[in-house]
Amino acid sequence: MENDKEIIGSQKQQIAKLFEESLRAAFPDIPDVQPLVAICNDPKHGDYQCNNAMSLWNKIKGKGTQFKGPQPVGKAIIENLPASEMIENCSIAGPGFVNIVLARQWIAKSLQKMLIDGIETWAPKLPVKRTVVDFSSPNIAKEMHVGHLRSTIIGDTLARMLEFSNVDVLRRNHVGDWGTQFGMLIEFLYEKFPNWEAGNAPAIGDLEAFYKASKQRFDSDADFKERAQKAVVSLQGGDEKYRMAWAQICEISRKEFQKVYERLGVHLEEKGESFYNPYIPKALEMLNEKGLIEESEGARVIFIEGKKIPLIVVKRDGGFNYASTDLTALWYRLNEEKADWMIYLTDVGQREHFEMVFSAAKRAGWLPPNENDYPKASHVGFGLVLGEDGKRFRTRSTEVVKLVDLLDDAKKRCKAALEERGKTKDWTAEELEQTAEAVGYGAVKYADLKNNRLTNYTFNFDQMLSDKGNTAVYLLYAHARICSIIRKSGKDIEELKKSAAIDLAHPDERTLGLHLLQFAEIVEDACTNLSPHLVCEYLYNISEDFTKFYTNCQVVGSAEETSRLLLCEATAVVMRKCFHLLGITPVYKI
Ligand code: ARG
Repeated sequence: MENDKEIIGSQKQQIAKLFEESLRAAFPDIPDVQPLVAICNDPKHGDYQCNNAMSLWNKIKGKGTQFKGPQPVGKAIIENLPASEMIENCSIAGPGFVNIVLARQWIAKSLQKMLIDGIETWAPKLPVKRTVVDFSSPNIAKEMHVGHLRSTIIGDTLARMLEFSNVDVLRRNHVGDWGTQFGMLIEFLYEKFPNWEAGNAPAIGDLEAFYKASKQRFDSDADFKERAQKAVVSLQGGDEKYRMAWAQICEISRKEFQKVYERLGVHLEEKGESFYNPYIPKALEMLNEKGLIEESEGARVIFIEGKKIPLIVVKRDGGFNYASTDLTALWYRLNEEKADWMIYLTDVGQREHFEMVFSAAKRAGWLPPNENDYPKASHVGFGLVLGEDGKRFRTRSTEVVKLVDLLDDAKKRCKAALEERGKTKDWTAEELEQTAEAVGYGAVKYADLKNNRLTNYTFNFDQMLSDKGNTAVYLLYAHARICSIIRKSGKDIEELKKSAAIDLAHPDERTLGLHLLQFAEIVEDACTNLSPHLVCEYLYNISEDFTKFYTNCQVVGSAEETSRLLLCEATAVVMRKCFHLLGITPVYKI
């Protein structure tokens, strides 16, 4: 990390550490009690609570303990807390809950320290070193559809959150670049452009139309079909001519995918299905040696407990498939890339596939039997994108939506809206362009990320581009407004960070400050539960807290001006980091 500033971990982790010490001191005979610290259900009772008393009481009661119930257990936890400037007071509620009120000065001091040392010092500490995030992963020569868009957006956010948490992230694009369809495509390529090698790249133009036409040929002409099947064998046998044609087709697709990634600002490293192909025989041999692979109806399969249909790993014709590739990729990621967490993003329709692959890996002893132990594999499923008609999202009744057009449309609409507001008269053309991009693409991302990923959501431009409600537009404007408050004060914020102190005397200031401090634990939860919507929810709540504070506390021209400007700055810094984690470019001017 830059400057060697210490990463302090989340506030919750820090509180938990205090309670861990207290639990050890108060109950030395009970080893390894994990402190159960959570945000208080009701903020009236406190900021955090420690929930260990009840379960501890259940462990010790009737075993000659001096304690008379969970309440005295809670009391002992409080009495044994080491002295700390963090905590103002603790009290017991109900059957032994310990309610914790944090010291206002400590909240203020932590915010100020973050402003000076940078928000990187608030990165959560996660129990993993290296993760593979397998996301986006469209199929060569086929449409990159809204499902891939969701995978790209959610996967990028998870990768960003893990990267922020100092985890080494391998961003893998597991493109579908292998399989029998390539025989058909290559054969069709040679039929349409017999001399393409002599010239430059074949003028395929629209690769999808090309795919459809070749499929039609494949289905209707037995001769062609036979040639296509032979082409697969030649390709897989490494024939130079067929390899070249294959590479050419992949390259055309790749350029199309790149247009989407560029707009979204998403970076991926391609290791497609073809990459794992040479490793498959060895991986299957390992599974075979463990006695996992059986013969079934001419195919080679792995039976999984609780599943009626086995996982096919070698097809009847001797070929490998999606599952053999995924099993091999899992092996590769574990053993060659040394990942301790493998995360896969696809729609929920593929849940079964991944469950079976992970179960097979457990049976083989590649993964530990317990879900929570590392190395770990997680499937991150998500729901569908729906159109206004409640059906799968399409532009016209039959067509899938072209992602590039969709994103360009979002940008265009934003540009028009900005111009309409009439505020952009003194903007340069570049500023207008950049803001339209930030807001337009940001709106599409946020509309996707703000929902629990498992739910289907309806794609609606009017809703996502509204400047009211829980939208990126509203949040980006809220951030820009905070920046403008600071700008208009005429104060040098860098100077203030060092010379002025934050006070949080007003209750709305304290609430905002406390919530800003919860940033790290929100990101930690979002990573652990693979749930980016938690960050969206948090970002929205922060902007609500800010509005409340700004409505009730005068900033510029008040006696508390310098302290409040610093609180504005801390809010802007936290909001910006949230935008960054969500892959949204912040704007500073509206
Ligand atoms: N290409 C697949 C599809 O479009 C997604 C691949 C996901 N990753 C994986 N390792 N199977 O459905």
